[in-house]
Amino acid sequence: MNLNETSAQTAAPVTQKGVYISTYGCQMNVNDTERMYSLLEMANFTPVTSPDQAEVIIINSCSVREKPVHKVYSEVGTFRRLKEKNPNIRIGVGGCVGSQEKDKLIKDAPLIDFVFGTDNIDQLPEIVGRAYDQSKVVQTQFQHRAPYHVETMVRNPGVATFVNITKGCDNFCTFCVVPYTRGREKSRPFSHILDDVNKLTQRGVREVTLLGQNVNSYKSDCGVDFADLIERLAVETDLQRIRYTTSHPKDFNQKLVDVMYRNQPKVCEYIHLPFQAGNSRVLEMMNRGYTREQYLEKIAMIKKAIPNVVLSTDIIVGFPTETEDEFKETISMVEAVGFETIYAFKYSPRPFTKAARFEGQIAEDVKDDRLARLFAAHDALAMPLAESYVGRVLDVLVEGKDEKRGNMHGRTSQNKNVYFTGDKSLIGQMVPMRITKANPAVFRGELI
Ligand code: SAH
Ligand code: SF4
Ligand code: F3S
Repeated sequence: MNLNETSAQTAAPVTQKGVYISTYGCQMNVNDTERMYSLLEMANFTPVTSPDQAEVIIINSCSVREKPVHKVYSEVGTFRRLKEKNPNIRIGVGGCVGSQEKDKLIKDAPLIDFVFGTDNIDQLPEIVGRAYDQSKVVQTQFQHRAPYHVETMVRNPGVATFVNITKGCDNFCTFCVVPYTRGREKSRPFSHILDDVNKLTQRGVREVTLLGQNVNSYKSDCGVDFADLIERLAVETDLQRIRYTTSHPKDFNQKLVDVMYRNQPKVCEYIHLPFQAGNSRVLEMMNRGYTREQYLEKIAMIKKAIPNVVLSTDIIVGFPTETEDEFKETISMVEAVGFETIYAFKYSPRPFTKAARFEGQIAEDVKDDRLARLFAAHDALAMPLAESYVGRVLDVLVEGKDEKRGNMHGRTSQNKNVYFTGDKSLIGQMVPMRITKANPAVFRGELI
């Protein structure tokens, strides 16, 4: 043991409490968890990797699909034994279920001590403090101030990390709970994002993914729109790569495509563009703001400017009233575009949303069948698409070592994970690699 370690150990206050956060949902929740850990660390808590070592246990929940509230209750139940052993333990629920269910969570599950919403993370240390002073705390109201202020707080950002640029959503797709759990859309000031990115590059970050529910509607206080934001980050920072998610087809425009083209290879040749349904009547019922034809026109515009672009998408099957023929248009859309990856889900009715009250809800077995057929249709085209990469040489940004498998790994501009044999000194470097094996999920490569 060296001297530094000894002094660090003796310096640690005996009162430090462990905090454990269990995270569900999208990348925004993952980022929110990092912020929670960082804020609690500043308030003298220590992040731990198991609930057994924690005095504060938080579930950062998601409610976009399925029965998330049940998931929260069953996970809370697994902490009962710990709390019986140590009554000082405090259990909290945050994230989208917190915003959605509020005090009802505590009424239904008295083991829960505090509930907070997606917009109350900055107050978390104080909320936890109050959970020790008084019996129960519920704080879920949205903060109405604009613009949106949030600093990226990632404990170990590594080579590639995420930066929030907007929060909330104003689109109100009729199936979606997000506008109710994340509130109205707000954009971060451009200068804050620039500062954030500069701090991250100083910490070794080479790639960022800009995050928002609909990044294309980003609008900064000083008139910088999303395409301007991408271009300025490409030109004014030391980033080697820029990605973004999620794009909304109705707001995806020629200006953005032009910026992507002008700033290659910094701006990655990868776009996630959810189409949700292949039929225009269903799209209208979903309130998506585009037709099948308009979506295909956007795809043609993208492919014309960036021929090597890789596309992925989100799809919902079994939306209320969707017929068999309309569902087949979803399959034909997947084939027509040639998506390399799809994220497909059975429609799931959500609280507050219009579609939950629509007539013509589709039976579960029909949804199951459509989902299975959609995946089968996609599998048939994904394998040959993946195999077409074998033999190609691609630039891989090396991200780290998978200690379990003993392999190094990194990603290509097209967002393909590549595993290879190499040295840890390559982490953070961009290296050309020949792809030797490929399946839709993962590639194998060799350094050249
Ligand atoms: N803002 C993003 C999506 C956020 S939610 C966008 O507009 O694309 C992520 C995905 O979950 C959605 O794209 C949709 O495919 C799926 N989803 C959302 N609500 C759903 C619901 N009620 N049932 C099933 N899937 C849903
Ligand atoms: Fe939900 Fe639609 Fe907003 Fe995406 S754009 S978060 S699907 S309301
Ligand atoms: Fe889930 Fe909330 Fe994200 S509902 S998908 S955690 S915005």
